[in-house]
Amino acid sequence: MKFFADTAEIADIKELAATGLLDGVTTNPSLIMKSGRDFMEVTREICGIVDGPVSAEVVALDHAGMMREAEVLRKIADNVCIKVPLTIDGLQTCKALTSDGTMVNVTLCFSANQALLAAKAGATFVSPFVGRHDDNGFDGMELISDIRLIYDNYDFETEILVASVRHGLHVLQAAKIGADVMTAPPAVIKGLVKHVLTDKGIEGFMADWAKTGQSI
Ligand code: E4P
Repeated sequence: MKFFADTAEIADIKELAATGLLDGVTTNPSLIMKSGRDFMEVTREICGIVDGPVSAEVVALDHAGMMREAEVLRKIADNVCIKVPLTIDGLQTCKALTSDGTMVNVTLCFSANQALLAAKAGATFVSPFVGRHDDNGFDGMELISDIRLIYDNYDFETEILVASVRHGLHVLQAAKIGADVMTAPPAVIKGLVKHVLTDKGIEGFMADWAKTGQSI
């Protein structure tokens, strides 16, 4: 499963990229606002740090406007992935852009039927928001299972990008279902490595090693 960082914070992206475990980045207008940075400038900087896809979201709501914005965004770098909302205009834009070889992430997916439409529109990625789905009394992971089943039934190549990931259990469940990608805040990604028994084990080994008086 590929790991994308869901952030526009450069320091966090650099830290994760240095581990060699980061496959891409997703941003959205709220994350850009949180970063306090200029959209174009920060997107260019992120694209220079990671080789994989960097999602940059259009803010126009009509097809013509989305195409105009996508034209600007895709000039930033070769690894820009245009993010469009799951609306009719978004799907129309997705079809036009992917037919032209541009990567597209169809975002704000909350139903399996929406995901089916994104695949038919040739999306590179579809982003079902599991956390927000759970928050509203639905089962986010059931949605991922349904999309996996549908995509496998028809050999759709659209990658399932599990978004709105809140904790390690979301990552684990998404991996068990066979989602292609997950995007999570840096803190969640870094938290995956933590285990109390790992920490305890290191502590014990270090203490015993010190008693040997040796060095490597
Ligand atoms: C995905 O691309 C979105 O940016 C993101 O995962 C939304 O997550 P949130 O529900 O935590 O805002």
